[in-house]
Amino acid sequence: MIDLRSDTVTRPTEAMLESMREATFGDDSRDGDATVQKLEQMAAERTGKEAGAFMPSGTMANLVAMLTHAQRGGEVLLEEGSHTLNAELGGIAGVAGLFYRGIPGKRGAMDVATLRETIRPTARNQMGTALVWMENSHNRSGGAVLPLGHMREVYELAHEKSIPVHLDGARLFNAAHALGAAATEVARHADSVCFCVSKGLSAPVGSVLCGSKAFIERARAYRRMVGGNMRQAGPLAAAGIVALETMVDRLVEDHQTAKRLAEGLHRIDASLVDPREVETNLVRVEVRKSGRRAAQWSADLKQKGMLVAPCDIYALRFVTHRHIGAADVDQTASAFAELWKKS
Ligand SMILES: Cc1ncc(COP(=O)(O)O)c(C=O)c1O
Repeated sequence: MIDLRSDTVTRPTEAMLESMREATFGDDSRDGDATVQKLEQMAAERTGKEAGAFMPSGTMANLVAMLTHAQRGGEVLLEEGSHTLNAELGGIAGVAGLFYRGIPGKRGAMDVATLRETIRPTARNQMGTALVWMENSHNRSGGAVLPLGHMREVYELAHEKSIPVHLDGARLFNAAHALGAAATEVARHADSVCFCVSKGLSAPVGSVLCGSKAFIERARAYRRMVGGNMRQAGPLAAAGIVALETMVDRLVEDHQTAKRLAEGLHRIDASLVDPREVETNLVRVEVRKSGRRAAQWSADLKQKGMLVAPCDIYALRFVTHRHIGAADVDQTASAFAELWKKS
């Protein structure tokens, strides 16, 4: 099977497995664990923040960020297609007790004029903005990358009003590659940032939330509250360390493979995808013109040996990663072409 459902399907490398066997087994929530601490420090350095806290998932890192930044009843402003609003099962309201307002955006970038009008202070009869949120790269917009100028504008706007900013950087290093910038340059436009080692970086589990020392100290308490204390997490952190050391630079290969796939699909029908819009390792493919739903396309592609996930009623998301090469995407485009002819 050619598995294009997600970059989370990547398997750990031999070097990761080796490092997991050699990892320390300290209790991270009691005396601390040296391997976890090393990963947290590396993550802080890579994002230009003071400290980091290892988390079991990106969803939990985001949830803990909300809990740490904002008081119950405050309002979070985030782009309306954000992963947090659409795929994290309402933790923002149900667990963190926050209200939210989706801001319309283009390719994941909030409309700044609307954001400016929507930010407001708490008053007797008015719920105030507690947190501003960005996502880079942006999952539902097909891995679109927020330009640094946009991020700076949002950050400055929020800071003028003394509102903290969080960056969901699940694929932060993909965004950095696409921008030709260091990850620190992307993360500097946010007070806190999280990224996943479990996606294109190929580690089996984990994300790191980074921010100031005081923020991370408070975040550790919220992590415990939501059940994220992992105890002997050394082996997981060990794989994360190898991921940061060896897997960041190769992400560019996934971007090239994604572009090749988009070009192949575009040749079949221009309505499917515009390759110029493919900036990272996600390819959003619109199948509306076929009149068939994404779920049907997914089932038909499976028959041909390709796993692809629907991301909307009429859209599929193809994700390239370490186990997908040029031959795989060419085969996928050929299979798609045969099905397209029949549809
Ligand atoms: C932008 C974004 N944020 C957060 C997450 C959640 O990460 P996890 O699956 O580790 O909870 C994802 C997962 O795909 C994502 O794409």
